[in-house]
Amino acid sequence: MSNEKDYNAVREAIKQILPQPGYDDGSAGPVLVRLAWHASGTYDIHTNTGGSNGATMRFAMEANDPANAGLEHARKFLEPIKQKFPWISYADLWTLAGVVAIEEMGGPVVPWRPGRKDKTQEDECPPIGRLPDAAHTQQHVRDVFYRMGFTDREIVALIGAHSIGRCHKDRSGYDGPWTYTPTRFSNQFFVLLLSISWSVKNVNGNIQFKDHEDELMMLPADIALIIDPKFREIVEIYAKDKKVFFNDFASAFGKLLELGVTRNVSDASKL
Ligand code: HEM
Repeated sequence: MSNEKDYNAVREAIKQILPQPGYDDGSAGPVLVRLAWHASGTYDIHTNTGGSNGATMRFAMEANDPANAGLEHARKFLEPIKQKFPWISYADLWTLAGVVAIEEMGGPVVPWRPGRKDKTQEDECPPIGRLPDAAHTQQHVRDVFYRMGFTDREIVALIGAHSIGRCHKDRSGYDGPWTYTPTRFSNQFFVLLLSISWSVKNVNGNIQFKDHEDELMMLPADIALIIDPKFREIVEIYAKDKKVFFNDFASAFGKLLELGVTRNVSDASKL
């Protein structure tokens, strides 16, 4: 193998594993996006700890965080690619996979740069409990995302990723997809949030929301986006204008993947 790090070859390999007949809605895309987000969403701006650098979810402590239930599927989908391109760090592979999945599902091009390193010890994992709890509403959502350094507008844009994928009873305890097109990245999450009259549904003690036909779902943390007047204003913008949402999402998701990432000057100069 040449010494040249061919990230385009890795991108191609990620595209190849996206179709997964027999898994969920037939695509690995949504769970790969969630892996990139949960690897990054542990960041704390005050202590500059956590974030995608390190890929510490390889260690049992972080992998077994109940918030990360189900992400072993994403890590398993990517393992053959790591074997084929051993020079790429897990931290770069997981974040790049999220970016490629979003693009391939019809979403925007998200800026991405390599250079993350993998940490080698379990005691370098960030503390458990930094990821958001879906049972809570706007105050909790703000607490968690302000800790990462995001604005209200960036928060709403990021949660728009719930246009893809679904909840699984055996992972989070919640159940169902947010949209009719869970493998298509779109602004449908916002359109449906506003257009449907959501009612409470109890799934084995977990409170979620359902539409009239009980086909779609929303989490309490999603509904917070239409209860809170400031969040709601932004939801209305994104529901009306997909382009504005795509632009904002691309920069917010790109920022998320960079949280806490430092690079050697020599690495950075090669980019
Ligand atoms: C308040 C913030 C958030 C909460 C409470 C939340 C909660 C959840 C929950 C409970 C699930 C279901 C997991 C399962 O049962 O498999 C889920 C799935 C998902 N989340 Fe979020 N999330 C939040 C923000 C985000 C953000 C910022 C992104 C990405 C930018 C994201 C992307 C996804 C995706 C793609 C899935 C689907 C995964 C799959 O289909 O396997 N979420 N989220």
